[in-house]
Amino acid sequence: MSKRPQTRFVCQACGAAWPKWSGRCEACGEWNTLVEEAADSRAASARPATTGSAGRGAGRIGFVGLDGAAEPPPRYGTGIAELDRVLGGGLVPASVVLVGGDPGIGKSTLMLQAAAAMASAGRRVLYISGEEAVDQLRLRARRLGLTAPTLELAAAINVVDIAQTLEAMSDIALVVIDSIQTMWLETIESAPGSVSQVRSSGFELIRLAKSRGFGMILVGHVTKEGAIAGPRVLEHMVDAVLYFEGDRGHQFRILRAAKNRYGATDEIGVFEMTDRGLAEVPNPSALFLAERRGNIAGSAVFAGLEGTRPVLLEVQALLSPNAGSSPRRAVVGWDGGRLAMLLAVLEARCGLKLAGMDVYLNVAGGLRIGEPAADLAVAAALASAAANQPTSAGSVYFGEVGLSGEVRQVAQAEARLKEAQKLGFEHVFLPRRIARGRNRLVAPDGVRLEEIGHLSDLTASFTPEEG
Ligand code: TYD
Ligand code: MG
Repeated sequence: MSKRPQTRFVCQACGAAWPKWSGRCEACGEWNTLVEEAADSRAASARPATTGSAGRGAGRIGFVGLDGAAEPPPRYGTGIAELDRVLGGGLVPASVVLVGGDPGIGKSTLMLQAAAAMASAGRRVLYISGEEAVDQLRLRARRLGLTAPTLELAAAINVVDIAQTLEAMSDIALVVIDSIQTMWLETIESAPGSVSQVRSSGFELIRLAKSRGFGMILVGHVTKEGAIAGPRVLEHMVDAVLYFEGDRGHQFRILRAAKNRYGATDEIGVFEMTDRGLAEVPNPSALFLAERRGNIAGSAVFAGLEGTRPVLLEVQALLSPNAGSSPRRAVVGWDGGRLAMLLAVLEARCGLKLAGMDVYLNVAGGLRIGEPAADLAVAAALASAAANQPTSAGSVYFGEVGLSGEVRQVAQAEARLKEAQKLGFEHVFLPRRIARGRNRLVAPDGVRLEEIGHLSDLTASFTPEEG
């Protein structure tokens, strides 16, 4: 075998490896992402993510039938209910969770709070930071008002040292690694944060967690575009991937599961940033509607759903006559294509004159709505703005709008109604209830339902000022 030192070029965006350098990665199309690395790092990084004693095969595997007892996994509460909810009811022992998010979004704060809460509950929790010195961590904890004398802090980046130390410790419940981009294996000839380092360090740490049976949280920084260069290569190796997101200009943060082997992926946890750290928001609707200024024209409340969780949000529309040639359509928090469709439906099927108008649409609070169920609320906001007449007091809207203007059913109507009732809304505009008999949706106490079969039924209730 030749001893010629071999190198390869690894894309830092997608992890693809190439024998030659080029300006653009053929696999993902990103520019200037190929970085030269020693080829033998492949041996460490290409190993499959098996649990337990990886290595030479020694024996046979056994098969069992599909039937048989399967216990639900035990869980540790993290002391933070919103985090437990997203994890599917708490942290599963020997599971590994990747928590991704933009730098500065609050990942370290959340993890330190969770680690301190778990340690205070009497579990052994280790917090290993590669980004901050122990003194900085202590200062941060003090600022957050955390008192957990048993929480064990360390500043380290060498994965071999970490592994050796953890091997010798017993009864560990949770290890937090902040962040995976700072971890470093000396056998890999590239800098911390590179795809090879992240993959190999991640693999070693995950293997350790699985073989020693403790939970592990890996913190990973995500780039602005949402691609986690680096940590992305760990997504398939870990049990759960959570994203911590939020708008820097707003005080709330949302934790979302993108993958979860032990729970649903559509749950969200809502937090509010305070100077004492992240506060849980058990009732997000109240937070999102807190700044709503009564009933003004162009505002409508949408009864939405985030995962299985109903959330009420305010949709705001503003119309202004356009002086120039092509009217503006500006959307924040919703889909621009869907707005264009709704405008066309409002014009063609409901006779609204919007063509010469600039249209601005905003979801207040900075949340992004992905559901088509918001159509009816957006249409109400637009019709209300066009007529310069507020939507009727205490009303909420949900329903999908089709191209002929028909209003269609959406999922989980009951949960939406309950949330509306809880927040004191009395009047719900919704699609026609098609289910009969026992399945028929009934109005909660104190809530009046207004079925909208066609969008024109809704727009007709707004009478333009100038007649
Ligand atoms: P940090 O947790 O360090 O973010 P990340 O680990 O994701 O990079 O938080 C960034 C800064 O914001 C930090 O200086 C602390 C501050 N912060 C608060 O003051 N209150 C909060 O609730 C949060 C989440 C952060
Ligand atoms: Mg951090």
